[in-house]
This record gives sequence, structure tokens and C-alpha cells, in this order.
Amino acid sequence: MPAKILSGREISAEVRGELKEKVEKLKAKGLTPGLAMVRVGEDPASASYVKQKGKTSEEVGVYSETIVFPGDTSEEVLLAKIAELNKDPKFHGILVQLPLPKHINQDRVINAIDPIKDADCFHPVNVGKLLIGKPYLLPCTPHGVQQILIRSGYSPEGKHVVICGRSNLNGKPLFAILIQKKTGANATVTVCHTGTKNLHEITRSADILVAAMGSPKFIKADMVKEGAVVVDVGVNRIQDPTTKSGFRLTGDTDFEALKEKVEAITPVPGGVGPMTVTMLMWNTIMAAEVQTGITAE
Ligand code: GUN
Repeated sequence: MPAKILSGREISAEVRGELKEKVEKLKAKGLTPGLAMVRVGEDPASASYVKQKGKTSEEVGVYSETIVFPGDTSEEVLLAKIAELNKDPKFHGILVQLPLPKHINQDRVINAIDPIKDADCFHPVNVGKLLIGKPYLLPCTPHGVQQILIRSGYSPEGKHVVICGRSNLNGKPLFAILIQKKTGANATVTVCHTGTKNLHEITRSADILVAAMGSPKFIKADMVKEGAVVVDVGVNRIQDPTTKSGFRLTGDTDFEALKEKVEAITPVPGGVGPMTVTMLMWNTIMAAEVQTGITAE
């Protein structure tokens, strides 16, 4: 039987509906959650992601501003802007879209964001809190993966989750979320990477397989067990002259082959991507509640 397709679009619409209601309640109490987004240079993928984040903010009622700097902006100028945003009470969340141009030290920039306004949960203080089981906000993409699983009826609790990829953005924080002794987590988690031996053997033992290595169509049908649940975090832009833009998005799994074998799978696009943006809204709203002491309930 062909797999159930786990639509991130549908699940994010559901979550956005809940967030919109929450924002309406906060606004009635005089609080409008605010998000500042900083982008440097003209990378088309980054521009498109930030535009999407702005649109989604509008949809759920979050106030957002995007600050765009030219690609040759100095690190000092960027750090000065972050210092200004840290102090601005309109903004409860701040994000700097990555990657940054090479002349800017990414770590210094992330460290400059006030952890309480760190909407991405990239700041080392927030990453550390997550790892010790006392999270403030959760990182957006891994949190989106967890929400897809829970809301589709595939809770990771007690399951063997195999994550392929150990990035700071996805693999590592997803590991940290899913090993928590909490409802919707409590999984046995294996993280595979380029140094992993017997990769096929490990991926085939997964009840839930998360592909997050950034390699187009890497996970083939012979790497998954029948009945597994597969979440594809990959967003690879591959050239395709038949499309208007000249490229198309593909994930880290061989989706067409896998969907004949697995229980459920997320598509790319329309899987994890929309959830990332939605969880950013979640974080901005939660950060606004924490910073002001005003809550929706
Ligand atoms: N670049 C790719 N994904 C992300 C993300 O989730 N947040 C930021 N700030 N930059 C990114």
C-alpha cells in the first residue's frame, strides 16, 4: 500500500490557526508579538525564506520588520543593529538569516542576540538549556519535525529514531529534543553521519528515519524498513530547466521509491519547510509572553 503523505502544509495550517487565536487574545490584552528579521546580501534562497516568514507573521498577526543589509556590510554594523534590536521593546524575537557572507563571523553574530529574543534558538545558552532538559524556546525545524510526528499519530515515544545528519541546525538539536524524558519525545535516538559505518544496517533498524544530511535523494528504498515513518528535512535546490525559476526543490530521500515501501513520509516541498516557519511564529509568541508576563490564557 502506498505511504501516507504527511502534509506539513496541512499540519502547519492547523498550528497557525491555534497561534492566530492566541495572538488575538494577546492583542486584546495590549500585546502584539514582534519579530525582527535581518538579512545580509542577495542570496535568492535566503530572500525567499525571509519573505515567507514575513507573510506568515502577517497571517498569524505577528508584527514583523525585515532589515536588509548589502552584502558588503561590516560585522560591526551588523552587531550594532542587533544591539539596537535587543533593546527595542517592539521586538520579542530577533533572527539573522543564515548563511551570512564569509567576511562576517556567524558565531559572533548569533552570540550577540539577547538569548531571551533568540527566535531561532541558535544562541549557545539556549542550545545548552535544551541539552540539559530545561529548554526556553525550541529550534524551529527540529520542533517542526516533532510536531509533524505527534500530530500525525506517530509519536516518537519509545521508538527507535535514526537521524541522518549532525548539523547544529537540524540533526543535533533534534536529537536533544527527542531524547528528553517528556511526552512526545522519550525516543531512543541514533545519529548517523559521514563517519558512520554500516549506515544501511542502522537506517534499516529505524522505526522513524529523519533524513537531514543535505544530500539530494541520498536515502534509497533499500535503506528503510517496511512500515517505517520517514521525515525528510532536506531542501536541495537542483537545476531544472523545465521550471520557470530554472530550479526545483528536492529532499534527501528518494521519495518516489520510498513511498511504495514505508508507512508514512513527508514530501519536499510541503513537508518540514512550512513547519519551520510556523514554529518560528510559535517562538516569537512565546518569547513575547515570557518578556512581558502577559499570557493568552
Ligand atoms: N538558514 C537556513 N535555515 C535557517 C533558519 O531556520 N533560521 C535562520 N536564521 N537561518 C536559516
